[in-house]
Amino acid sequence: MSIHIGASPDQIAPYVLMPGDPYRARWIAETFLEDPVQYNDVRGMLGYTGTYAGVRISAQGSGMGQPSMAIYAQELFDDYDVQAIVRVGTCGGLSEKVSVRDVILGTAASTDSAMNVPRFRQVSYAPAADFELLRIAADVAEEKMLPVIAGGLYSADQFYNPDPTITATLAEYGVLGVEMEAAALYTLAAQFSRRALAVCTVSDHLVTGEETSSQERQETFEDMIVVALESIVR
Ligand code: HPA
Repeated sequence: MSIHIGASPDQIAPYVLMPGDPYRARWIAETFLEDPVQYNDVRGMLGYTGTYAGVRISAQGSGMGQPSMAIYAQELFDDYDVQAIVRVGTCGGLSEKVSVRDVILGTAASTDSAMNVPRFRQVSYAPAADFELLRIAADVAEEKMLPVIAGGLYSADQFYNPDPTITATLAEYGVLGVEMEAAALYTLAAQFSRRALAVCTVSDHLVTGEETSSQERQETFEDMIVVALESIVR
């Protein structure tokens, strides 16, 4: 058991899919994994382990925001020896290069969070995805002809951003989408020499105002999970 996950070490697989929403973890387990077993319900942050294409995989909720993601990612890497985490979530589109329903493979994650200040002091560390996972995910998406684009994410501390000019500037610098967890995940993966990737469906667009229906979100979510799972088993 770790502080926030009530599982024995053998109950969690070396590869973990992490949606923000714990109910999504349950949906992933019930929809995509064979013989899923729930190993965690501490604080309602559901976690399951099953198999996909014969490979043991877990699905664990991260909660919203980098502090929550950091708790679960740290415990998975440090206490459960997890080798790779793929975040599967949604993001807001920032750039004209993306539309709702596109899937962004987050090459790097800029952030306004101060979480890395105690680690790197005045240095602005660049949290980045694992290149192998990223390359395989891009190959899988291309083969399945899914609308995937690789580029930067912005991991914001606030969903209700008080200064929208920041996202406009980030878009000018090639950042494609805003979400709230990838930078912490990438930083912790680097700390523990493990692999991480954030795969995010564009659920709404901050510039065009486009939104997705819940049906569309569900379908795109399914495409994204397939990309994440296939990337892990290859
Ligand atoms: N901001 C932050 N996170 C998000 C958004 C957003 O607009 N959309 C989906 N996740």
